[in-house]
Amino acid sequence: MTQSIEWLGDRLRFIDQSLLPLEERYNETDDCNVVAEAIRSLKIRGAPLIGIAAAYALALAAAGRAEKDPRAFHAFLLKTAEFLASTRPTAVNLQWALQRLLGRISPETPADEAKRILAEEAIAIHREDSAMCRRIGENGAALLENNSTVITHCNTGALATGGEGTALAVITTAHRTGKSIKVYADETRPLFQGSRLTAWELMKAGIDVTVITDSTAAALMKNERITCVITGADRIASNGDAANKIGTYALAVAARYHEIPMYIAAPSSTIDASIKDGNGIPIEERSPEEVTSIHGYRTAPTGARVYAPAFDVTPAQLITAIVTEKGIYRGPYAFTEEKVRERVELR
Ligand code: MRU
Repeated sequence: MTQSIEWLGDRLRFIDQSLLPLEERYNETDDCNVVAEAIRSLKIRGAPLIGIAAAYALALAAAGRAEKDPRAFHAFLLKTAEFLASTRPTAVNLQWALQRLLGRISPETPADEAKRILAEEAIAIHREDSAMCRRIGENGAALLENNSTVITHCNTGALATGGEGTALAVITTAHRTGKSIKVYADETRPLFQGSRLTAWELMKAGIDVTVITDSTAAALMKNERITCVITGADRIASNGDAANKIGTYALAVAARYHEIPMYIAAPSSTIDASIKDGNGIPIEERSPEEVTSIHGYRTAPTGARVYAPAFDVTPAQLITAIVTEKGIYRGPYAFTEEKVRERVELR
């Protein structure tokens, strides 16, 4: 399993996902701004992973600050957290992780103590995410029978999390327990997380994977026996509406038409029970260049107008079940703050 991110005590090591699969390059930094830029440019990506990375980035910013006055130090941390949270708006894990760190300190906490606490909390978030992935894999694997054929979208594996992944952990866990699983990976336009990253991860794991263009999925559902669709999520509202990589909604609509179950796998840190439904989820818009060119090669006329939302929202009614580390939920969904924050025992 690829270790997407590693805390080295005074700096962070991470794989540059924008270069995969051509180059496996690891970067090391003790600079919060470098981590912020990596999140913004998708060198570090995937909802759980950007939460973990932002937590470490705040710990790095704290460690590098000479300020001794607790109030001024605290004010600096609030500002830095706000800046980090602004790097990507859709995945709630980012804000969740930063809030969790800030919740451990106050304006009275001495700077040296705050530095230690923030690093410890970031490490705890990372460890817990890895354990949550394991449990999501175990819980979700029960949904996959031997000889299943699955369609997935974007990348939800070790690259996107602090552990084995979410939707991909369901697949890899089922595979490990001896089930034969065939995967169709949507290439995932415009940045190809499916073909570049998911195919790379599944091939490494020895799992049967076939890359398809996003627009092939519906025809495949019509022509082949597809057992289910399984994806991750970037934010799940209280009613179960789920934001995920653009194209997930189209997949869910096609799955419903063909009477194929649509599963979402995500840790509790992706559930935002403070918002009622998907209308409250901010959708990130990316730069037009990501659509008008591929690796610097222009694929649309200069000046072409572009609409480039990075995510869409799948309505809860189209989601057959949501798998978390706590179990398998079926609609109608009603996630509450208490339910979400309830801890389960994680190994
Ligand atoms: O823009 P990305 O690559 O960060 O989008 C990621 C996704 O949409 C994933 O499906 C989601 O974050 C779940 S990752 C376990």
